[in-house]
Amino acid sequence: MNKKFPVNFLWGGALAANQVEGGYLEGGKGLSVSDVLPDGIWGPIVYPPQGEYLKHNAIDFYHRYKEDIALFGELGLKCLRTSIAWTRIFPNGDEVSPNEAGLQFYDDLFDELAKYNIEPLITLSHYEMPMHLVEEYGGWTNRKVITFFEKFARTVFNRYKNKVKYWLTFNEINITLHAPFIGGGIRHDKVEITDQLLYQAIHHQFVASASVVKMCHELIPDAQIGCMVAGLPMYPLTPNPDDVLEVMTKDRETFFFSDVQARGYYPNYMKRYFREKGITIEMEDGDEEILKNTVDFISFSYYMSGCATADEQLNLQAKANILSTVKNPYLSSSEWGWQIDPKGLRYTLNTFYDRYQKPLFIVENGLGAVDTKNSDGEILDDYRIDYMNDHLYQVGEAIKDGVEILGYTSWGCIDIVSNSTGEIRKRYGFIYVDRHDDLTGTFERTKKKSFYWYKKVINTNGEILSGN
Ligand code: BG6
Repeated sequence: MNKKFPVNFLWGGALAANQVEGGYLEGGKGLSVSDVLPDGIWGPIVYPPQGEYLKHNAIDFYHRYKEDIALFGELGLKCLRTSIAWTRIFPNGDEVSPNEAGLQFYDDLFDELAKYNIEPLITLSHYEMPMHLVEEYGGWTNRKVITFFEKFARTVFNRYKNKVKYWLTFNEINITLHAPFIGGGIRHDKVEITDQLLYQAIHHQFVASASVVKMCHELIPDAQIGCMVAGLPMYPLTPNPDDVLEVMTKDRETFFFSDVQARGYYPNYMKRYFREKGITIEMEDGDEEILKNTVDFISFSYYMSGCATADEQLNLQAKANILSTVKNPYLSSSEWGWQIDPKGLRYTLNTFYDRYQKPLFIVENGLGAVDTKNSDGEILDDYRIDYMNDHLYQVGEAIKDGVEILGYTSWGCIDIVSNSTGEIRKRYGFIYVDRHDDLTGTFERTKKKSFYWYKKVINTNGEILSGN
């Protein structure tokens, strides 16, 4: 028996509009940064799009959400994380009035979730900046974008204040530093990316985030709003003090983002960094005051850990996900080379909690793998079950450690299009979608073995999890 999880623990699944909805020009929707990346975030930006990309129709959630939510209900989800596509509400980003068809779509979606008592957890910005704001304003490098984002947030807070009580501002806000186009709407193929430019854009995102936190508290007093960072704990490759200090430096590439949003001010280590790099953040009067509007909880994605070393040669060889890290000889990797480290999740939970003493929410975790149907048409994804069991067991351990955790939303609870590579053969779901990288497929949904397993996990409130 494994009685660790609180009774109100939010067992969930997580999606993002741009990776599931499709219908990329339907209902008056405008183009977003995710609509112009045929090969994922490392490929070219093709704007305007030429032909159809996988994400343009994705898994057709735009038309099939009722069927999918019924499956989520059967699965027993208590919570569904997804995003509101900014471009469904403000197709260009700078319109005076919102697009009613887009607003209605999410009204219907939230009503459907309510039928199954599934709590929505909504990301305001999940790599979905309107392309018009990228082209006309330079994305987040331009301070004016704060006002557009505030308007978008005010519109959706007012519209859904009775339906949505959990919100997130920016998905993986620390990714702007590493992938400026999807994170910050900055065209790295046209603009010279400098630290000065990036940190100024990030400052605008911080101000926008804090401003909408304040707004959310005013407009929906019974809501909670969190920040979201890509979690990637670092271990020193060796006990060499230089490697340990390298860990400190690398960890701060993540902590900087949660520090500002959870504590409400720039940390001293960044002031030193800016000074030594000759970076000057232009702040307007009132920015420091706005930043004091801190988040209610900290959420993060967790897929892997990494090693840090001061050895430049080893650093050059490393590559993983959006972030690069050196391989850990003690860990195995997924088919995409992501190092599998369940204990790193317990470690991350404790680290964030010790640092902020605020509730945490694991809003992404899962295994991207190739799934194949056997001759009986079943998908026996024991590898996914093992991965999730081991990670969730460590979540239980963190709860025992005293970490306050609101919930866990497994990434891609139904198969979706990958963010980094633009493929769908990299599947995360408990539900298989008949859709393929060559744009073929019937879109038919099939429950995988992991579906029945996760259902049991939820039913028993985690009691069936096992580990060491
Ligand atoms: C996170 C993103 O980086 O990781 C998601 O928030 C993304 O959008 C997820 O899908 C998994 O990455 P990938 O590249 O396998 O889709």
